[in-house]
Amino acid sequence: MKKETLTVELGERSYPIIIGDGLLQQAGPLLREAGLAPASKLLVVTDENVAPRYLQPLKAALEAAGYAVHSFVIGPGEQSKSLAVYEAVMTEAISAGLDRKSAILALGGGVVGDLAGFVAATYMRGIAFVQVPTTLLAHDSSVGGKVAINHPLGKNLIGAFHQPRLVLYDTSAIRTLPERERAAGFAEVLKHGLIADESFVSWLEANAEKLWQLDSELLSKAICRGCEVKASIVSADETEQNQRALLNLGHTFGHAFEALCEYSRLNHGEAISIGMCLAAKVAERIGVAQDGVYERTRQLLRQYQLPTEWPHALDPKDVLEVMKRDKKAVGGKLALVLPRAIGTVELFARVDEELVLTVMKEEAGA
Ligand SMILES: NC(=O)c1ccc[n+]([C@@H]2O[C@H](COP(=O)([O-])OP(=O)(O)OC[C@H]3O[C@@H](n4cnc5c(N)ncnc54)[C@H](O)[C@@H]3O)[C@@H](O)[C@H]2O)c1
Ligand SMILES: [Zn+2]
Repeated sequence: MKKETLTVELGERSYPIIIGDGLLQQAGPLLREAGLAPASKLLVVTDENVAPRYLQPLKAALEAAGYAVHSFVIGPGEQSKSLAVYEAVMTEAISAGLDRKSAILALGGGVVGDLAGFVAATYMRGIAFVQVPTTLLAHDSSVGGKVAINHPLGKNLIGAFHQPRLVLYDTSAIRTLPERERAAGFAEVLKHGLIADESFVSWLEANAEKLWQLDSELLSKAICRGCEVKASIVSADETEQNQRALLNLGHTFGHAFEALCEYSRLNHGEAISIGMCLAAKVAERIGVAQDGVYERTRQLLRQYQLPTEWPHALDPKDVLEVMKRDKKAVGGKLALVLPRAIGTVELFARVDEELVLTVMKEEAGA
């Protein structure tokens, strides 16, 4: 079985990301190699869509290597990143008798990863954490150590930085993802190209059809390159003092769309897809981007079945208000990551609000 390994370089917190088709079966030996001893119990957190497909194979692989495995299944979707579900997972960890040498495994997408990771970050002041992503989007969320749950007043407001000990990415799991989630995952893959690597973007353009069909070899390559781009930025700036903000291309718009749609009509990937188009348009309008950046960005996103049009019924003024509350905003000024060219972005700390509003109004046809 072919597998690729890359390392997130973070000094003594460095960890491997192992990517390959069928890796779930090798989970036992891979956890041992990562230094997790079978003496202490493991808790696998997963959701109701993932559990029937992948929980048993993962458990069996771990038990065969001598691990005692507990599991906890949460409801699917963003609503599970809540204080109530956090408490339920904590209760399970305590009653199962996890100790300070135990590990929590997140088997699922970004929701399971963010929630289980936050439990791991806080259980007994922090225990080992392993990511076992099953969505394409999770190539992004499983790298970088940001873990969080939501508060009714805002997304990801309660969280920590807690790096995993290992990311075990079985790419075969992606085949059972609904198409809409597949597209959403590609949005983050494309983002990693757009922020850092023009030749990766050309490759994604040339291979769009096969990638969309989940050609196994190409998919592994795409995930690997996406993880590499993220890992290199995270290595340079673990706690988001500067460069890490570049990963937010399209996200200031996107988060506002998600919030105003109450996290339902648009998923994260769809929201940032539209956001990346708007960022390109604003960049061209201000004159910081090369000509053609917007059009190439839009075409690329469309190749992967992603939306690029203004979300119906949203008022640009409301969107602007929410954008100004973004974590990057300082002193109420709008800060945006904008493209200079395909593969090169920059954080602009004080973007002219009126101009952004005008661009959004044009897009909204208002
Ligand atoms: N921590 C970070 O750095 C970071 C980065 C990006 C996104 N996120 C977070 O990630 C979350 C989104 O992640 P996501 O898109 O993976 O969503 P998700 O975890 O909700 O998964 C999407 C849907 O697919 C289902 N599913 C998962 N794997 C499947 C499979 N193999 N086959 C069939 N169905 C499957 C899930 O049950 C769910 O219904 C958001 O909460 C976002 O805030 C975090
Ligand atoms: Zn994102």
